[in-house]
Amino acid sequence: MCGIVGYVGQRKAAGVLIDCLSKLEYRGYDSAGVALFEKSGIEVIKATGRLKVLAAALEAKPELSATCGIGHTRWATHGAPSDLNSHPHTSEHVTLVHNGIIENYLKLKEMLLSNGYTFQSETDTEVLVKLFDFNYDGDPLCTILKTLSQVRGSYGLAIMFKDFPDRIYGVRKESPLIVGYGQGENFLASDIPALLKYTREYSILEEGQIAEVTEDKITIYDEFGNPTEKEHLTADWDVEAAEKCGYAHFMLKEIHEQPKAMLSTISPRIEDGMPDLHVKSLTDDYLRKVKRIHIVACGTAMHAGMVGKTAIERLCRVPVEVDIASEFRYRDPIIGEDELTVIISQSGETLDTLAALKLARAKGSKVLGIVNVVGSSIARESDDVIYTYAGPEIAVASTKAYSVQLAVLYLLALRMAYARNTLSQEKVQAYVKELLRLPELIGEVLEDSEQIKYLASQFMNCDDLFYLGRGFDYALSLEGSLKLKEISYVHSEAYAAGELKHGTISLIVEGTPVIALATQDDVFEKTISNVKEVKSRGAKVILFCKKGVSVPADVADYIVSLPVYEEIFMPMLTAVPLQLFAYYMAVLRGCDVDKPRNLAKSVTVE
Ligand code: F6R
Repeated sequence: MCGIVGYVGQRKAAGVLIDCLSKLEYRGYDSAGVALFEKSGIEVIKATGRLKVLAAALEAKPELSATCGIGHTRWATHGAPSDLNSHPHTSEHVTLVHNGIIENYLKLKEMLLSNGYTFQSETDTEVLVKLFDFNYDGDPLCTILKTLSQVRGSYGLAIMFKDFPDRIYGVRKESPLIVGYGQGENFLASDIPALLKYTREYSILEEGQIAEVTEDKITIYDEFGNPTEKEHLTADWDVEAAEKCGYAHFMLKEIHEQPKAMLSTISPRIEDGMPDLHVKSLTDDYLRKVKRIHIVACGTAMHAGMVGKTAIERLCRVPVEVDIASEFRYRDPIIGEDELTVIISQSGETLDTLAALKLARAKGSKVLGIVNVVGSSIARESDDVIYTYAGPEIAVASTKAYSVQLAVLYLLALRMAYARNTLSQEKVQAYVKELLRLPELIGEVLEDSEQIKYLASQFMNCDDLFYLGRGFDYALSLEGSLKLKEISYVHSEAYAAGELKHGTISLIVEGTPVIALATQDDVFEKTISNVKEVKSRGAKVILFCKKGVSVPADVADYIVSLPVYEEIFMPMLTAVPLQLFAYYMAVLRGCDVDKPRNLAKSVTVE
């Protein structure tokens, strides 16, 4: 979603802001803009479309010399992408950029209209900036406190007051915002990658906190306006982690980073051959007592939860429910005593997931977060966190974050199975040994990328595609299908292989592409029967199975053979060619792989 940056220092702010915004492009946006404290007053420059359009507009104005300013990439919510609707928005005294939604903006607009204000855009943000103006009393802090007390909704804001050209302000509620500490310069941003080129030292603003940023000082105030101390954190992500490093796209780079991400996530959690999650409260005693698990997440993270459910139920014999966060939060879920809620999120900022977390806690559930971004809202609100060590994921389509989420869920399942005595210590150790082979095996799968590229070239013109599988393969096919849809814009559906004939098989005609996943020994023959059903109706089939299994003749047009591996862990291997298939389909179809249309990386609105 929208990206926010702010700069106060000695460099030319325009260049720094564009540079920082470019590192937030991955969040998704459709217009961009900056506001600069020039000697002549505040100058606002905006452009619809990609950041390079804004950069060109700024380059055409070499006279811009401001060393203080704010910038924004907008993902349209209220009003179409246009120069008028894009940020910054201005009023007589105040200029600001906003990430989030002001829910009571219509009411506020009525009040402002009756006080003589006029509006040019369709946005809730223009209402907000005029409300700031209405409340402005010469004191920025008091104005911020008063204005935000009248506002309902979510916001991350960077604000400039015309009368205070040496500073910018930042404030947040439910939308992420950090401050970055430099030498003779300071920053505001929605996310760490924006700042890595300039500084690694940062603090995360808490709900309601206000940051006053000048070139030599950052003062943080609490929600009542009292100065407060803030812990300084150091980002351990390096600049390369947020660069493409020779890969054509971030998505390809991140797919190739999976062996390393897996190793970083799994190996610190193995002690004496046994999984040890290093989470104080997840004692064996506690894991023995858990009666049910709720896994709650959105999108790809929810699909990881589906694989986790299959693993936990199979290995631990504990019932697991998986919920889409936006459904969970409004369905009044039943959470009993000794039930654990597991919240999965790459960004740690997904609004629906965060709301689901708060609801689970309010219902008395213990909450375990599985999160990639250290210090993010979900990490901080959870009772305990297991961090996935994927490093920054920049491409909108999640790949490495999904894989490490799976790894953590398998580790949890194994530890729980040991604690509950559904698996012996020897058996758990044998599984762990297998798990440690994973980085190497993913490397092997990546070496076969050319075959996947070839398959994509054979299917690139299709309009619809089906993914089939049973059990683990069904859970994975949901993710394969989502990956394809989101970046290549090819419609696809994932089906439990046995379910197709209950209706959907009517869509299979001569040439319909089907990707069939058959990596599980116990249901291999059943899945092959289902594949035969579509094949005999003319489907063009790519079959994914383990090397060496015997596949009946004429069942598939193409076979992708995967390394022979412990079958419960197969989703972590099979995911890789599915990601590559989606990637190459998108590339061949000329799509903007890293920034698919209409999508945002971090979804901070409902
Ligand atoms: C798809 C994708 C999304 C996210 C979803 C949740 O590739 O990335 O479906 O998985 O928006 O995001 P997080 O994990 O940040 O909560």
